[in-house]
Amino acid sequence: MISFAIDLFFFEQKVEIWANRNLLTKRDYKYIYMNNMVLNVEIEKERFVMTIQVKENIRPTCCAYEKTEFKPIGKTMIRMDRNESVFGLSKRVTEAINAELSNLASYPENSARALREAIAGKMKMDADRVLIGNGSYELLALIAAVYIDSGDECIVSYPSFIWYEKFTLLGNGAVVAVPLKDFKIDAEGVLRKTTLKTKIIWLVNPNNPTGTILSPKELDAFIGRVPKSALVVIDEAYAEFSKAYDMSESALLTEKYDNVIILRTFSKFYGLAALRIGYAISNVEIIHDLFQFRIPPNHNRLGAAAAKAAFGDEEFFNETKAKVIEQREYLYDRLDKLGLRYIKSEANFIFVNFGKDAKAVEKELKNRNILVKPGKEFGFEEWLRITFGVREINDRLLGNLSEIMENRRKAS
Ligand SMILES: Cc1ncc(COP(=O)(O)O)c(C=O)c1O
Repeated sequence: MISFAIDLFFFEQKVEIWANRNLLTKRDYKYIYMNNMVLNVEIEKERFVMTIQVKENIRPTCCAYEKTEFKPIGKTMIRMDRNESVFGLSKRVTEAINAELSNLASYPENSARALREAIAGKMKMDADRVLIGNGSYELLALIAAVYIDSGDECIVSYPSFIWYEKFTLLGNGAVVAVPLKDFKIDAEGVLRKTTLKTKIIWLVNPNNPTGTILSPKELDAFIGRVPKSALVVIDEAYAEFSKAYDMSESALLTEKYDNVIILRTFSKFYGLAALRIGYAISNVEIIHDLFQFRIPPNHNRLGAAAAKAAFGDEEFFNETKAKVIEQREYLYDRLDKLGLRYIKSEANFIFVNFGKDAKAVEKELKNRNILVKPGKEFGFEEWLRITFGVREINDRLLGNLSEIMENRRKAS
């Protein structure tokens, strides 16, 4: 019980402000009257705290995502929950980082020109159509900050990467969630919700957590029906892992349409998550708008040098891709043998259905030092998202899974 005396003159105003800030309802506080004057307000909520509160629209998140728990990183944990790559690095990366070490006292070149030119060169486009970011997280935040006006609507697929929703809310936009259809982005569903109020359509391709894709042709047909006032952001964080998806074809969409941004990252396939390099491809005007408002310099020398080296290493790219495809097929085969249902993925993770056992399996794996991502965090209680890796790691997962499931069978 918290009690405080209140200045009569400001009584109504103050109580309302405090009540709103702390999400209190009228029932939660009572006034103490004496001679028809308010002397005191008592608040019967333990959670009443007079602290700085985050802005109102981001306090309760709008979709049914679970609050994520902070997980301490144990030294021996196998992290199959973060979609990082354990397929190794290009050998050229260490050399590039070593060469850059003597330059650490000076800021990097403002726009990461050398890296932009390498990326643009491969795609035969002007380097001014590429923007480097401090990971694609920064680019997502920048897009939201630059384009979303208060009250604009932004469409997210559900379940999907939660940060589209968070950045929309930070930009004071309203989130419109469209459920996936057959675990895939429902392009028709998104179009039905698209209006002249729509500012951004956030798409992730392959989708996180399901690993499904819309092909560049499907995207083309979709974007052709989107009003020009809505920006279509295609986050291709996992596209390099895909066998079916043609990234040079999707890049052409940024030439064909004025309202498309493609985001890519060196954090996943290239294994450089710690160095924080992502990039955006769009038309010159959009790249310029974004470039003006990024925090300068938004990248670091080591990251830019490592990314450029990795990007130019075709042999590394082809070998890694072959390993990924082989391990994905291997896992499908083994999951089939375990009798588990899963969604075929174009990424480095697989969404697997464990029915009502999902929570227990996740806990058991954690006890055995293997972390996987609960589908519950995306609103899918019966599923786990498992990032796969090299054969040794996958076998460790599969061995443990089969033991856990066997034990559960015996116990039931
Ligand atoms: C779909 C998606 N987009 C963007 C990111 C952010 O990647 P980064 O900032 O490391 O480039 C992630 C990270 O997990 C992701 O899953």
